[in-house]
Amino acid sequence: MYIFKRIKELQFYLKSCQGSIGFVPTMGALHEGHISLIQKSSSENDITVCSIFVNPTQFNDKKDFEKYPITIDEDIKLLIAAQTDVLFLPEVDEMYPKGIDHIEMYAIGYLDTILDGAFRPGHFNGVCNIVHRLLDAVLPHNLYMGEKDFQQCLVIAQLIEQTGSKVNLITCPTLREQDGLAMSSRNRRLSEEGRQQATAIYAVLNTLREQQFTQSFAALQQQGLQHLQEKGFEPEYILLANATNLQLLDNFQTDCNMVVLVAAKLGGVRLIDNMRM
Ligand code: PAF
Repeated sequence: MYIFKRIKELQFYLKSCQGSIGFVPTMGALHEGHISLIQKSSSENDITVCSIFVNPTQFNDKKDFEKYPITIDEDIKLLIAAQTDVLFLPEVDEMYPKGIDHIEMYAIGYLDTILDGAFRPGHFNGVCNIVHRLLDAVLPHNLYMGEKDFQQCLVIAQLIEQTGSKVNLITCPTLREQDGLAMSSRNRRLSEEGRQQATAIYAVLNTLREQQFTQSFAALQQQGLQHLQEKGFEPEYILLANATNLQLLDNFQTDCNMVVLVAAKLGGVRLIDNMRM
């Protein structure tokens, strides 16, 4: 695996390669979910590029940024084992030559007003800044992202359309631990007890799916919020939305694809998850 820290070096190398480029952007602290994206990319492209960059502009909470897990040596081993061709590992000044206080403003619109857009002001604008720069650096044919970040996938689909990029966005299913907890880099920050309590999110999502036509969404949402609180969470939201455009729904519907999205903090660690209904 080649490791490049500079865009110019990365591009010089990629120009010498033949065939399609698959790209998996990450913030490191890699887990099997990331590796499944790498494997999908490798099976569909000639070259697979992974980036690791903990993007400062997408953290609305300074503490969350400072505590974001960094496990670069382990990450490199995992990427080599997964036969990744290239790791792009830039520093902040490579991605933000004008500094992180001079970022672009993207027209995210509705998606920035709901769910994580509402709870994490500026987050998706930071994500758009970095993903746009990374796409310009790597120039991939295919971009692989995980459905755990459901709203992020829609924001990136919109960014691709707005910027006229030719890249195909391929969204991949969430990988879960054996007890159902969605794989996430942030899970490493949970205490032993927190790790056990954290399965409550999956339990709530499953109950919602199983009971969707027996009770109203409002009643199930209320029970879900209460269950999370009993398990020690500070829930931010449990919301039902149209899975195509994330328009929020008051109740379950039979004529559209639906998704329930959850965000909740446990011992200061913010977890998100979602499930299609
Ligand atoms: O999903 C992530 O890990 C990040 O938001 C991304 C897409 C790598 C941008 O920093």
